[in-house]
Amino acid sequence: MTHKIAVLPGDGIGTEIVAEAVKVLNVLELPLEMETAPVGGAAYEVAGHPLPESTLKLAQDSDAILFGAVGDWKYDTLERRLRPEQAILGLRKALGLFANFRPAICYEQLVGASSLKPELIAGLDILIIRELTGDIYFGQPRGRRVATDGHFPGAEEAFDTMRYSRPEIERIAHVAFQAARKRSKKVTSVDKANVLETFQFWKDVVTEVHQQYPDVELEHMYVDNAAMQLVKAPKKFDVLFTGNMFGDILSDEAAMLTGSIGMLPSASLNANGQGLYEPSHGSAPDIAGKGVANPLATILSAAMMLRFSLNQPEAADRIESAVRAVLAAGLRTPDIWSEGTTRVGTREMGDAVVAAITGK
Ligand code: NAI
Ligand code: MG
Repeated sequence: MTHKIAVLPGDGIGTEIVAEAVKVLNVLELPLEMETAPVGGAAYEVAGHPLPESTLKLAQDSDAILFGAVGDWKYDTLERRLRPEQAILGLRKALGLFANFRPAICYEQLVGASSLKPELIAGLDILIIRELTGDIYFGQPRGRRVATDGHFPGAEEAFDTMRYSRPEIERIAHVAFQAARKRSKKVTSVDKANVLETFQFWKDVVTEVHQQYPDVELEHMYVDNAAMQLVKAPKKFDVLFTGNMFGDILSDEAAMLTGSIGMLPSASLNANGQGLYEPSHGSAPDIAGKGVANPLATILSAAMMLRFSLNQPEAADRIESAVRAVLAAGLRTPDIWSEGTTRVGTREMGDAVVAAITGK
């Protein structure tokens, strides 16, 4: 069976890093059919919209999407619906991508490159799962008005609504417990049940769903404590899952434990196993076109795509082993360079991963 992949490089370093991931995918000798389409600012330039109909259709008709990054300062003055970043929101919405996976792995070869204590991060391998479609980001009603009550009646105020429905919590909880079954069978559900009704409900529903996974250990943790534990003893976590807003913040915090944002892949999945795979970073306009961007986050995102959407776990393992091998050989793009290692550019890093896979 041929796997259809929509390749959406986007803007800035997006084109450079996606080219390396495609190169890596091509040497695996898998039945992959890759088709490229413009997205973000690049699409605005050619089609007047960051997510043209043809790009959206390609994404919908594919088993998976390999995405680079979108955005550039030069589009800051465009009206919101035409800005590059709307493309990613549009894809999430159109495809129903509700589960965001962000592994935070500290590769042993990079421990020295981090400013954090080695004993804290050496061997770190945690998986953060963020719910992506609900919560205060999308809850209605929201807006601005004149207050009729509260501490300052008559004053101008703004409000958002935090909400989660039972099915939304159930489906993300299933995803987390199932992910834990493939790892160390420990899940931490992060909430703020002591203060928020939404997250008391979250905790209740998660506890119910857990009954179906007696082999998985479940722990509940308040978000403020989780934020502290992530920097105090991050290795105590295995799978950490939470709502949209807490997940946004905690996943960026966890990213900083691993060295460089240039190393961090991500996946956003829907109920059919279809997914969008992209590096956790943006389009880095400051280094775009210089050939120095780290392609490993995108290459590792391609590995996640093989594992989660295309059912090719061995191929995913081959990519991940190759990444470890090039790091062990001392190759470093500037963002992860440290004394005594070899500085390479984007293309050389991609070539080295290819060579580690093919053995040539
Ligand atoms: P950014 O992640 O693009 O860059 C932050 C810093 O990290 C920069 O100094 C950059 O050079 C560096 N960096 C990022 N990726 C790197 C890589 N692979 N190798 C080496 N260094 C790397 O975030 P920033 O600067 O806040 O945003 C730039 C643009 O990207 C904006 O237009 C923003 O909206 C967009 N963006 C897009 C995202 C997406 O497409 N999903 C996500 C985040 C930001
Ligand atoms: Mg964020």
